[in-house]
Amino acid sequence: RSNARITAIGSYVPDRILSNFDLERMVDTSDEWIVQRTGIRERRIAAENEYCSDLCIAAVRDMIDRYGVTVQDADYIIVATETPDTSFPNVASRIQAAFGMANCGSVELHAACAGFVAALQMANGLLLSGAYRKIIVIGAETLSKITDYTDRTTCILFGDGAGAVLLEASDQEGCLLGMISRTDGSLGHHLYRSNLSDSIDGHPIRNNGLIVQNGREVYRWAVEQVPLGVNRLLDECGLKTEDIDWFAPHTANARIIESVCGRSGIPLDKTLSAIERFGNTSAASIPLSLDAAVRDGRLKSGDIVLLYGFGGGLIQAGAVVRW
Ligand code: ACO
Repeated sequence: RSNARITAIGSYVPDRILSNFDLERMVDTSDEWIVQRTGIRERRIAAENEYCSDLCIAAVRDMIDRYGVTVQDADYIIVATETPDTSFPNVASRIQAAFGMANCGSVELHAACAGFVAALQMANGLLLSGAYRKIIVIGAETLSKITDYTDRTTCILFGDGAGAVLLEASDQEGCLLGMISRTDGSLGHHLYRSNLSDSIDGHPIRNNGLIVQNGREVYRWAVEQVPLGVNRLLDECGLKTEDIDWFAPHTANARIIESVCGRSGIPLDKTLSAIERFGNTSAASIPLSLDAAVRDGRLKSGDIVLLYGFGGGLIQAGAVVRW
């Protein structure tokens, strides 16, 4: 048995920027409304022929280039996404093929905006079991491909991107100090993208393959439940808010983050969030925020970071990590 440590991080966002001013020309909205209600100024949009696997491969390449790590000997790839190129083969298997990993498992995980943290929890367990030594965990989305650009209540939120971390077995202290998971499945019909069914628990849903959200319900749930989960996680780790160097919540909406900070007692200036530039990138949002902070020197080795994903399901997944 050994512990798990994060040894590298990488990320990628598509070149094309969709600004609030661009959206003003597409739906009845304004830059002022979007900034005030969400904190988002722009988001990245994948090219027509650019898919989730392309974003993931670029994020892994970035990780290799910056940290000099090898991935050919990886034992497992876990990709958290709601926007895979194809239902199957999964996106993780595209990455295995791209990098020629000879002995590598590959799975895809669906937990919407909680997906990256859920994947990190699973990878940690696999490493602790002693069965595997090296696992790539990725959160990636091309939400623009399932966004309804005639619906002003959702199209202003979503963007595309990918973030990858390498988790390796180590004899040193493990990086995951604690974790939490919660599910409120009875609220699932408030945020969904239909696939085969046209109802959830008897609630009829729109079966057009695009994201549908009851923003007010999801907002209310997030600001009530996330602070409870955050404080519970800290308690279970024996930590106080002042012991946390950084808080990396899912970047759904800047107002949700402000409210969660207020209710859980975490100072807002401890928040790592790339929401202004990238919007809500679901499973990619937390690794994108982490990597932005690594790149600009805020997040340093040894820092204690509280990661907290929440969204479709409705699902929460949190983890306290020693970076
Ligand atoms: N521009 C201008 N006006 C708008 C827009 C827009 N883009 N969107 C909505 N409005 C209008 C509404 O029609 C409404 O008008 P009305 O009062 O005449 O009916 C008014 O603005 C207020 O609408 P609300 O829905 O109350 O606006 P709110 O302040 O709640 O903001 C938002 C909406 C941003 C969607 C917010 O509810 C939110 O962030 N919800 C949670 C999102 C989230 O966390 N998602 C989870 C993760 S996503 C995932 O898992 C994939």
